[in-house]
Amino acid sequence: MPRVTPDQLRQMKARGERIPMLTAYDYPTAQILDAAGLPILLVGDSMGMVVLGYPTTLPVTVDDIIRHAQAVVRGTEHALIVADLPFGAFQVSPEDTMRAAIRIMKEAQPQAVKLEGGRRVAASVRALTEAGIPVMGHVGLTPQSVNATGGWRVQGKTEQTARALLDDVAALEDAGAFAVVLELVPAELARLVTERASIPTIGIGSGLFCDGEVQVVHDIMGLFPDFTPRHTRHYAELGAAMREAAQAYAADVRERKFPTAAQSAKIDPAVIEALRAGDSAGSAESTESAASGNTPASADGQGEPEADGYAPPRAKKG
Ligand code: KIV
Repeated sequence: MPRVTPDQLRQMKARGERIPMLTAYDYPTAQILDAAGLPILLVGDSMGMVVLGYPTTLPVTVDDIIRHAQAVVRGTEHALIVADLPFGAFQVSPEDTMRAAIRIMKEAQPQAVKLEGGRRVAASVRALTEAGIPVMGHVGLTPQSVNATGGWRVQGKTEQTARALLDDVAALEDAGAFAVVLELVPAELARLVTERASIPTIGIGSGLFCDGEVQVVHDIMGLFPDFTPRHTRHYAELGAAMREAAQAYAADVRERKFPTAAQSAKIDPAVIEALRAGDSAGSAESTESAASGNTPASADGQGEPEADGYAPPRAKKG
């Protein structure tokens, strides 16, 4: 199945079909989310907080985005991959923005980029879209401006700020953005924006009336058991499950219950007997060849890797 396109997302809006979106930052998670049928994934700069452990998204670099987007692109076949432009990549000038976006598109090969801001980034959005780079906008709470907004607060609650938000979305649409994230916007304002915009609105903490919804995958999977932002819901308790699994593993290792024969490789007992008897390495090797009837295939005498050697698996689709 080919990848989802920006145009297909617009068609989903036209059909009234909701657009589910999640963040992804690594290869195995991307495989799982792609196999689950998510049409669009975001390599968000939220990685700064949920993967790298920073207090904000500000330290994330273009290199960080590229490295993680490469993994997500490799792990997916179907989803449209959006890579965030991190803080510092687009604030200086449209030329800087273009350079950062081109690097990301060339080195990681996502299908689109996202950047925060409304009218103030419209010129950059226009330049990117004219260069053939699909752009997703992001308004409402923009985490890269958290020092100016004074925290993670709902945006657009007054008539003046609500009008500004409507103008921002109109400017992004006019500049060619194919969709826009509405973060922490009152639900009825998000509804109005969604009714007025011809491009899909993707909410987070913005109620049920957006065309789609995006969430940080760590939040919905319960990877931070003690932290649940109001706008999220745990669909799994992977944090608790991982802690229990790690405790069970550590206990088995301590009690010599793991690994067992099932996880261990066998050797002809004659080889060990020869080694214990103090024979030279040369005679042990010749015993191996004689016992297996094989000549070692590699220079270190280990032979070809067996089926249980490690190789990154491909996900089963469907
Ligand atoms: O970086 C991110 O994860 C985001 C979403 C919250 C929309 O921008």
